[in-house]
Amino acid sequence: MYETITLEKRGRVAVITINRPDKLNALNSKVHAEGIAALDELRRDDDVVVVVLTGSGDRAFIAGADISEFEGQTPVTQRSQFQERTLFNSIDIFPKPVIAMVNGFCLGGGNELALACDIRVCSDNAKFGQPEINLGIIPGGGGTQRLTRLIGEGRSMEMNLTGDMIDAETALKFGLVNHVFPADQLEAETMKLAEKISEKAPIALQLAKEAVKFASRSNLDEGLRREVDLFAICFSTEDKQEGVSAFLEKRKPVFKGK
Ligand code: COA
Repeated sequence: MYETITLEKRGRVAVITINRPDKLNALNSKVHAEGIAALDELRRDDDVVVVVLTGSGDRAFIAGADISEFEGQTPVTQRSQFQERTLFNSIDIFPKPVIAMVNGFCLGGGNELALACDIRVCSDNAKFGQPEINLGIIPGGGGTQRLTRLIGEGRSMEMNLTGDMIDAETALKFGLVNHVFPADQLEAETMKLAEKISEKAPIALQLAKEAVKFASRSNLDEGLRREVDLFAICFSTEDKQEGVSAFLEKRKPVFKGK
């Protein structure tokens, strides 16, 4: 049904794979459109609790925007494209947790997509960068904004001004990724993490994501007020009752997303 991505459900975890390995999974307009459509599908699917985003093949997560589409673009077409609902923002506002499983080059728009995800993990051979400067442009999907909030101004500035790549260990040190795994264990370890999260109460997961995301968009007082409101909503759920009862009865909770 999709041409440039694949969508696979493994229990409560859905895996979206950008599937243009011969172009190192570069993001063209079809990938953007199909990625947005897949997220729409997964948002409505109550069986899916967590999404993993990755790239096909063993060389790249995503090597950036498809540079061949840049030719013929004007300021007007680019601005309107990026003001529409983008794949970056669709991930950012997607209510369920999204994990970026970075299996190789993670450059430009690829790094921006990873940044829009909630958790990033990578293989030990992954390489991260914002090389737009080498093309005489700057990032347009969050590479100067989300990256700076995540790793700090000095580090983000250097990546954006030099266009140089950093390796997995440096990305870990910068806090750009949460975990680095040997390449042959990346998928298994990522699925372990995704499955662990997918067993939690789905509504609480969504509220936790919303609350944490709000932290970088608000001042502390606003953030704490929002947290209390979202915390209070948990008390309207059946899953809160199940979680508390299971603890008191010394058994594992079975959450239903209600
Ligand atoms: N857009 C379009 N095509 C891309 C691409 C991109 N961002 N990145 C890689 N490709 C294509 C190459 O053109 C090549 O296609 P071809 O075989 O039809 O010629 C194929 O993917 C393999 O890439 P190649 O450059 O041959 O691999 P490499 O191992 O020599 O280099 C990179 C890997 C990632 C260093 C290099 O591909 C690169 O610099 N890509 C662009 C990264 C970038 O600037 N991204 C930001 C865009 S704003």
